[in-house]
Amino acid sequence: MKKHHIRLHPLGKEIQVNDQTPLIDVLHEFGIEFPCGGKGTCGKCKVKLLKGNIDISEIHQQQIEKLGLSHEWRLACYSQCTDDITLEIDQFSHLILADESEFDFIPQSGFGIAIDLGTTTLVAQLIDLSTSKVLAVETALNPQVKFGADLISRISACLDGHATEMTRIIRSSIGTMLELLLQKHPVEINKVALVGNTVMQLIFSDRDVTPLSAYPFHTDNLRSEFFDAKELGWQFGVSQKIQFFPPIGSFVGSDILAGIAATGLHTKQAYTALIDLGTNGEIAVGNKDHTLCASTAAGPAFEGTNISMGMRATTGAISSINLTEGKLVANVIGNVTPKGICGSALVDAVAILREMGLIDMFGSIVSEEDRINISGNVYLTQKDIHEFQLAKAAIAAGLEILCNTLSIQLSDLQDIYIAGAFGNYINLRNIARTGMIELPGEKIRKMGNTALIGAKIFLFSDDETIENILSKTSHINLEQDPSFQDIYVDKMMFS
Ligand code: FES
Repeated sequence: MKKHHIRLHPLGKEIQVNDQTPLIDVLHEFGIEFPCGGKGTCGKCKVKLLKGNIDISEIHQQQIEKLGLSHEWRLACYSQCTDDITLEIDQFSHLILADESEFDFIPQSGFGIAIDLGTTTLVAQLIDLSTSKVLAVETALNPQVKFGADLISRISACLDGHATEMTRIIRSSIGTMLELLLQKHPVEINKVALVGNTVMQLIFSDRDVTPLSAYPFHTDNLRSEFFDAKELGWQFGVSQKIQFFPPIGSFVGSDILAGIAATGLHTKQAYTALIDLGTNGEIAVGNKDHTLCASTAAGPAFEGTNISMGMRATTGAISSINLTEGKLVANVIGNVTPKGICGSALVDAVAILREMGLIDMFGSIVSEEDRINISGNVYLTQKDIHEFQLAKAAIAAGLEILCNTLSIQLSDLQDIYIAGAFGNYINLRNIARTGMIELPGEKIRKMGNTALIGAKIFLFSDDETIENILSKTSHINLEQDPSFQDIYVDKMMFS
């Protein structure tokens, strides 16, 4: 029998199937759901056909039109595999912030691409440099996730001999995203600005990450990297050098440099903080004179890692929780049966369970049970609550040590900007109630994807602007602060 290959983007998986295999038969193994039971009415099983052909029956076409989908979309429940195909699975694309906020700029001619190369997600925007308007956006999962969710596992994978492969797949993935942008808007590209954490930059740039695997966790490769499209294996030209902007420190990358530019922290009279709650939590505190940055081991819990039923903000994830008439009421992405809990709901859950007296100030569950049911079959265990405490203590301790080092009080901070995809969905009051940020919720502001906003600003910036931020910014290692352990242990508690 004739066979075909199906490539699943952005999972990077390839499967072989028999001719005329219904997609519904193979995709459900990858966690794809068919909420309307394959009737073609909900549109939730939609897949984007990136390569190859899928025949469309008349009724399939009608359903696609009814759902208002463009020509490249197919409903998996109506599709059969009769060709080698590459599919982008809509249910895998999670809530990535593709920011469109405005900023000051000096108009230029041509087009640029701003890229936020995150540990988990990739976002690229095509920008008209004469207006700063976003013409098109592409998002994808970082294909390196198959080597592990956090930076430590990525570094380990490099040391285990996968460095070349990791460089290859990230360059190729971003190249594909840019091609898709250019398919939507066939223009000549003048500039490409990339930002990301230090590990992501080193891997993209084919640099050695070994120094970041052991004490003193220091790399000398803290500089801008420049490339030609050709050497990255991209099939299109870019007239100027492609620039990956410089990290600030070994674990504070150009995503935070971009965040400082986006918040204008380096220009303000009053002290301001920026907290990026991405896969790794980074903090910057400063004003127009001086900014201090540090990284914390806070992120993975907020992205579902190490939480028994933790998951990213995709279909089936509980995304927020409220207390209504003494009961927990969960909102589930996609209005389906809950499968797990994502970071924003984890914060809600802990704040509410503490308010209900179901966990005590040490984080212990106040009952004989070692788990608390949240909604449906989704629960939190004692270990999950402990993981949350580790994460919130890392942020709270980091913030306090940076303030102490600057000889200011936490209360001297005028604003605290929360960045990162997760940060945008978080309940600010609950952040304050858990003690992660020990300031009134009114001082905390959601800032969106500051890395991406900053990357766009960099498309319009000269070297002097970047140098100006870098010259006023320093990086400290929190663990080397003699008060770190005491503060960290203290911050594990709930008030
Ligand atoms: S499962 Fe509902 S449209 Fe396919």
